[in-house]
Amino acid sequence: MLSRRSALKAGVTTGLVGGAGLLVPYLPHAAADTTGTTAMPTATGAAPPAVIPQFGVPLTIPPVLSPTSTSATTDYYTVTMQKAYTEIVPGTKTEVYTYNGSFPGPTIKARFQRRAVIKQINNLDSSVSVHLHGGNVPQDSDGSPMNLIDPGGAKNYTYPNDQDNATLWIHDHAHHMESENVYRGLTSLYLLSDDLERSLPLPSAEYDVPLILRDGRFDATGKLVYELDDHTQRNTILVNGRPWPYFQVAARKYRFRILNASNSRIFSLKLSDNTSFIQIGSDGGLLEKPYTTANLMLSPGERAEVVIDFSGYPLGTQLVLTNPGMPGTPETGQVMRFDVTRTAVDRSSVPDSLGELAPPQTATVNRTFVLRMDEDGRQGAAAYINDKTYDANRIDTRIDWGTTELWTVTNANQYAPHNFHLHQVQFRVLERNGKAPTPDEGGLKDTVRLFPGESVKLLITFDSYEGTYPYHCHLFDHGAMGMMGNMQMG
Ligand code: C2O
Ligand code: CU
Ligand code: CU
Repeated sequence: MLSRRSALKAGVTTGLVGGAGLLVPYLPHAAADTTGTTAMPTATGAAPPAVIPQFGVPLTIPPVLSPTSTSATTDYYTVTMQKAYTEIVPGTKTEVYTYNGSFPGPTIKARFQRRAVIKQINNLDSSVSVHLHGGNVPQDSDGSPMNLIDPGGAKNYTYPNDQDNATLWIHDHAHHMESENVYRGLTSLYLLSDDLERSLPLPSAEYDVPLILRDGRFDATGKLVYELDDHTQRNTILVNGRPWPYFQVAARKYRFRILNASNSRIFSLKLSDNTSFIQIGSDGGLLEKPYTTANLMLSPGERAEVVIDFSGYPLGTQLVLTNPGMPGTPETGQVMRFDVTRTAVDRSSVPDSLGELAPPQTATVNRTFVLRMDEDGRQGAAAYINDKTYDANRIDTRIDWGTTELWTVTNANQYAPHNFHLHQVQFRVLERNGKAPTPDEGGLKDTVRLFPGESVKLLITFDSYEGTYPYHCHLFDHGAMGMMGNMQMG
């Protein structure tokens, strides 16, 4: 049996060669690649890993939630968190945690400057906290790690929707439990639209499709197996909760909103024929102009909105969305398949300009944040920001309201990738490793990836709500291991 440490060594000697085209190898994945996942030990007493065919089930689209009532200013919603059972491993039922019984949860569609109030009822057996990732919201509605809803309880979350159009993400954030709770299914999309976005001729309605990507580890009985910091055995890829689905598309343009909702997998996506995506949006909404790229890199929490034009493909074409750029197993190199099955009229287009972002302000405060985790295979490995693990009662960073700051964030690890996410704000990436970022990182961002040794400079203006909010690595397992801090604004 490979210990974590010997897995690392195996990666050092053989993993680097395997991952052609990857930026920086994540060695634990590489080790799995070369040793073969099926040979990896299962947890004591666990059933063997599931065998799930690829491209065997259709993609499903999460339902859109209707408000329970509306007023002149506000849409009111009710959501119940509950367990549900869904078929992922053929012939079995997997227990998952859900918002309203659906896996992933229902999509909420919000409008700029129209308030949404969501009553969240916790019918699970453990405490939860509901976070709107990317949302600019008052502290009490942020779903911070200690602001919990106990089993049987309920809480109203108020979202002002006072920010640009964006694809946002609702997920659990209960202290020490977010990693497992999100892994078990507490995920929903929250689409915030505004007049600018609606005025653009982009593909819409049934041609505007969410793709929530994640991985998971399933055993042959259908159980979703959770182990902290499991790099090697979460080898089933789910899109909208279905394993490696196919999606029957018309030969025309589609807008896809892609969210990486994995606990720690980084996706590096390509189409199997190498055609480009037209990227139109990132975390905080539409880019200023479209960016044509054959490769899309998304770490956990990041979103990319892309247009794919299927009009050039003959009916019958099968196009695979692949994930070749990151080390992994052969099965994690595939994500889903697009089957071009019909024609359709297409009046949509991608304009050359998608809107203008506010000009960056000048920073008056500089700070540095160093991300590092124990990666020597020790028992009880922890993860740190500036050498400290998370303490919910400690304020790590005090910020004067209204200030623009420049944060330099560095990944000091040798093997482990990280990323960095702040609540409450959308920032700009000014530099990646001393250079201007590529256009996929040129818009509004709330989560930024950091491969080992990388460093980014973030320009952040803190001018909305006062209060205490966390920032953390969004590889949830690392957050749960301590890589999280608190900032206080005001
Ligand atoms: Cu996606 Cu602290 O959150
Ligand atoms: Cu967040
Ligand atoms: Cu991390």
